[in-house]
Amino acid sequence: MKGLLASFLLLTLVAPLIGANKNSNSSNTTYNVLDFGAVGDGSADDSQAFKEAWQASCMSSDDSPIMLIPNGKTFLLRPVTFSGGCKSNNIHVQINGNIIAPSEHSQWGCYETDCDHWITFANLDGLYIDGSNAIIDGQGSKWWSRSCQDENNAFFLEHANNVHIKNLNFMNSPGMHLIIERSTWVYVSNVTITAPQQSPNTDGIHIQESTNVFIYNSSIGTGDDCISIGGGTSYLNISGISCGPGHGISIGSLGREGREEQVEYVHVSNIQFKKTSNGVRIKTWRKSAVQVSNITYNNVYGTSDGEIAVKFDCSEWGQFWLLGPAVESFWAGESNLVGTRRGGAARVVTNSRHPDPGWLTRSSGMGHGNHPGWLTNSRHPG
Ligand SMILES: *[C@@H]1O[C@H](CO)[C@@H](O)[C@H](O)[C@H]1NC(C)=O
Ligand SMILES: *[C@@H]1O[C@H](CO)[C@@H](O)[C@H](O)[C@H]1NC(C)=O
Ligand SMILES: *[C@@H]1O[C@H](CO)[C@@H](O)[C@H](O)[C@H]1NC(C)=O
Ligand SMILES: *[C@@H]1O[C@H](CO)[C@@H](O)[C@H](O)[C@H]1NC(C)=O
Ligand SMILES: *[C@@H]1O[C@H](CO)[C@@H](O)[C@H](O)[C@H]1NC(C)=O
Ligand SMILES: *[C@@H]1O[C@H](CO)[C@@H](O)[C@H](O)[C@H]1NC(C)=O
Repeated sequence: MKGLLASFLLLTLVAPLIGANKNSNSSNTTYNVLDFGAVGDGSADDSQAFKEAWQASCMSSDDSPIMLIPNGKTFLLRPVTFSGGCKSNNIHVQINGNIIAPSEHSQWGCYETDCDHWITFANLDGLYIDGSNAIIDGQGSKWWSRSCQDENNAFFLEHANNVHIKNLNFMNSPGMHLIIERSTWVYVSNVTITAPQQSPNTDGIHIQESTNVFIYNSSIGTGDDCISIGGGTSYLNISGISCGPGHGISIGSLGREGREEQVEYVHVSNIQFKKTSNGVRIKTWRKSAVQVSNITYNNVYGTSDGEIAVKFDCSEWGQFWLLGPAVESFWAGESNLVGTRRGGAARVVTNSRHPDPGWLTRSSGMGHGNHPGWLTNSRHPG
């Protein structure tokens, strides 16, 4: 009886362990794009090979399959979408080789497929993109001079959760470089984004309709905003960014065509601006129903190229409202934006319904990321 009980106990204890062991012991297969027919000479179209390597990674039953873009090569991609519905929620995309877009827009194949975006990751949960210094080059120069500009953006993350993007160099997108939309728990760190100062609409990172987004330790200099924040964004933490040239870090424009839009809990800290046309700004359209609240700026410094370093250009018409606590939380106590083009001190412009010229020197209010409302992600911390 004792023996029977013991073996019953043993079985119930060991059985689940065997199951767990089997999973955690399984190897993580590497799906190298070269094995799927990619050439990597910078001129052959490698899109199909990438799609197949992704498909294999996505269908893999491994704990953590790896899609590998090997180094020493340059892969040419036309617009591609890597969609989810994958078996693993831990897919790694290791980008060691460079990726370029066709330099001629006719080569994007825009008439066959929807190509607002170049490289899209969509409908995913659990993705790690690591670049080990690789370059993702949108080769956008021919698009910039076109008078009627389509919105062709480079790297698009849509409806994706738990995504980590690091150690990548993005450059020369025809439009925005990295867009994060309808996503949650997205971590971007150690990326550089560069495009010429004259290139139009080449925002570094654009975030909208997303929550819990963390952008750390990156260097961005383009022809438009380093980081632009659209409606529906909340719990966004931006820290350790070198920004410039470009327009700065902007919330808005919000409320275009009278739209109701909300942005809250945005924490911007440790930013060095280098000759940006603005530093930080918030812009809303007139006659809009826009709510901007709990925004903090902390330790923001550097030089601006224009006269205005901080601009809260909020409509006093229409249904715009800036809630009391929000004004309190526009906190830039350690802000030190100096050295404008004309040599004077940078100006701060507010045009809100509740102008509060005192806020700039206020040293209390919301501070140092101490927001009670912030959540932590237990599954994919940091
Ligand atoms: C785990 O991996 C080791 C080494 O690859 C192998 O010898 C062993 O049989 C594996 N165990 C299981 C349960 O798959
Ligand atoms: C597979 O990848 C996961 C996550 O990166 C890791 O924890 C695990 O040790 C890997 N397994 C093997 C067998 O390499
Ligand atoms: C940042 O990325 C570069 C390559 O792009 C790499 O050399 C460096 O080690 C990375 N730094 C960190 C802290 O990961
Ligand atoms: C950013 O850089 C700081 C200082 O070098 C470092 O302590 C921190 O771990 C980095 N964060 C990330 C997410 O890389
Ligand atoms: C935002 O980032 C800063 C710098 O890394 C950090 O000190 C702060 O705790 C973060 N805030 C939140 C709410 O995560
Ligand atoms: C700002 O955040 C605090 C703390 O979470 C909250 O009590 C307050 O209601 C928020 N203010 C607005 C205008 O949302």
